[in-house]
Amino acid sequence: MAEQFDVVLSEKTYTPDHSCKQNSWIGDYTKAYDAFLKDPDAFWDRAAKELYWFTPYKKVKEWNYPYARWFIGGKTNITYNCLDRHVMSSRKNKVALIWRGEDDTERIYTYRQLFREVLKVANGLKKLGVKKGDRVCIYMPIVPEQIISMLACARIGAVHSVVFGGFGAAALNSRITGAGAKVVITADATFRRGKTIPLKHIIEEAIINAPTVEYVVVLRRELHQPVEIHSEMEIDFYDMIKDVRPECEPEIMDAEDPLFILYTSGSTGAPKGIVHTCGGYMVGAHYTSKNVLDIKDNDVYWCTADPGWITGHSYVVYGPLSLGATLVVTESTPDFPDPGVYWRMIEEFGVTIFYTAPTAIRMFMKLGEEWPDKSNLSSLRILASVGEPLNPEAFEWFYRVAGKGKCPLIDTWWQTETGMHMVTTTVGEPMMPGFAGKPIPGVVADVVDKDGKPVPPGTGGFLAIKEPWPSMMRSVYNDEERYLKYWHTIPGYYAVGDLAVKNKNGYIMVLGRSDDLIVVAGHNIGTAEVESALVSHQAVAESAVIGKPDPVKGNIIKAFVILRQGHTASDRLKNELLYHVRITLGPIAMPSEIDFVTSLPRTRSGKIMRRVLKAKEMGMDPGDISTLDE
Ligand code: PRX
Repeated sequence: MAEQFDVVLSEKTYTPDHSCKQNSWIGDYTKAYDAFLKDPDAFWDRAAKELYWFTPYKKVKEWNYPYARWFIGGKTNITYNCLDRHVMSSRKNKVALIWRGEDDTERIYTYRQLFREVLKVANGLKKLGVKKGDRVCIYMPIVPEQIISMLACARIGAVHSVVFGGFGAAALNSRITGAGAKVVITADATFRRGKTIPLKHIIEEAIINAPTVEYVVVLRRELHQPVEIHSEMEIDFYDMIKDVRPECEPEIMDAEDPLFILYTSGSTGAPKGIVHTCGGYMVGAHYTSKNVLDIKDNDVYWCTADPGWITGHSYVVYGPLSLGATLVVTESTPDFPDPGVYWRMIEEFGVTIFYTAPTAIRMFMKLGEEWPDKSNLSSLRILASVGEPLNPEAFEWFYRVAGKGKCPLIDTWWQTETGMHMVTTTVGEPMMPGFAGKPIPGVVADVVDKDGKPVPPGTGGFLAIKEPWPSMMRSVYNDEERYLKYWHTIPGYYAVGDLAVKNKNGYIMVLGRSDDLIVVAGHNIGTAEVESALVSHQAVAESAVIGKPDPVKGNIIKAFVILRQGHTASDRLKNELLYHVRITLGPIAMPSEIDFVTSLPRTRSGKIMRRVLKAKEMGMDPGDISTLDE
């Protein structure tokens, strides 16, 4: 990868109405940032004091590069802040969660109702022998029980590891065994685009070689033809909580106790289990839900992410609930039964904050303005985006068509590892399409070269973070070396793995990954994972996978495959390989294109040069190929 390159930057700016800033939680960005710089610990202390601690912390942080501890000695439980506090207040009967199914079914929970359900599931898990520190894998579609299960784990101090419901059996198995899960909570099916997609057989396959699993809890949604429960190991979700009481004291958690593990693809090898803690993560998610998303008590807040991703953890579940917000959550896809469904939901529920992903915005663009124009979107006051660069065309469209040119549009840059927003344009500040914005108050970030020297405006470099922040990952589960790699790649910084460029105002534009991760429709896919799935097929000798730019998904996966002797390239075989990847990793990791080749470009030491493949694919100069083997 070229280390220094110049980028021509547009200066187009939208300045929101003065009232946006005046009415926002954050207020003036510069003032807030200066207050942080003046005394970082006092800044985070103020943020943490908005939450309840059973025992107050003695010290805000201890920083022993590259290890941080936050809110030392503090005892808390995130569910106390997300539920008990509200139930004990006038928010008791406020709507916490509106869930809409694909068939228009609705389930609505007030804070009191959600609280009761969480406590019952917490007791149900206790009955199965789940204790503080045990890992519980949650592999479910977007249903209220998915969120309830996460909170139930947190209630009793069990560490949840949520796996996105679109992963296949092998991907699920590696995440279950990686975390050593004692219990897996799943569902029989998900409903998508009018079809029933069975899930239970995936779990059955995934736990064959997962010796730590003692129970599988199955939410049975298909009531007409209920799946069979194999009572040796399985239990029905609602049977588990049939006779339990909705009373369960919160487990007293140390600020540094783990809250959850969330797997994210690595650029090499197996996925990484990112570990977040009870105290720091809670403060980060709460602070940013308030100060970046600007959630207020009368908002109807809708983040379209699946709780199975970090966005769902921080900005569907923990952050918004800690603020006592009303959430909209749906299992439905944005184009079924027709492309108007999301816009109708905005009108119907009176959504005020709409947080989605560039890939969805680009899909909306393709489907046409007539769909949003059919609905009254005047309830919206803030738009937000996450997951990949929000290109200027998508920004303009979303800003104009959904926000009618009146809503601040905040492009939030962050990662599973950061736990919370890091770089964005806070509400009320001038917005520059294509630029995420500046580090938020609380975060020190810059664009630097490989030695950690800040690069001048207009010159590309690596996005990197300098100081610790409360919701930073504490470790990669059982993999110290990979944790250290984040901190040892660029001296003095946490290396995020993204390329970026800054303009003269300090606004940061994120250009994409600098490593072998492919961001497809906002989901990180490791080339290594797809390549090893392909090679596990008996016809494949070797493979290399690259990301290829796509106008809707950001990138698609393209695979190059060398066949073993005795196998012949054919469309039939291509389909077989696609099917194989679908079954092992899941549909999200399926290549869109496969080319059969007889050789792959390599360095003399044998490493595949994906960069050369990519340049060739895009008709570009491959750059320095001096290490290419003849
Ligand atoms: O490459 C960046 C991209 O997504 C990566 C993090 O992926 P993940 O851990 O799955 O978390 C996604 C949701 C936070 C980043 O390293 N990314 C995320 N948000 C943006 C982005 N790229 C550009 N602009 C963003 N707003």
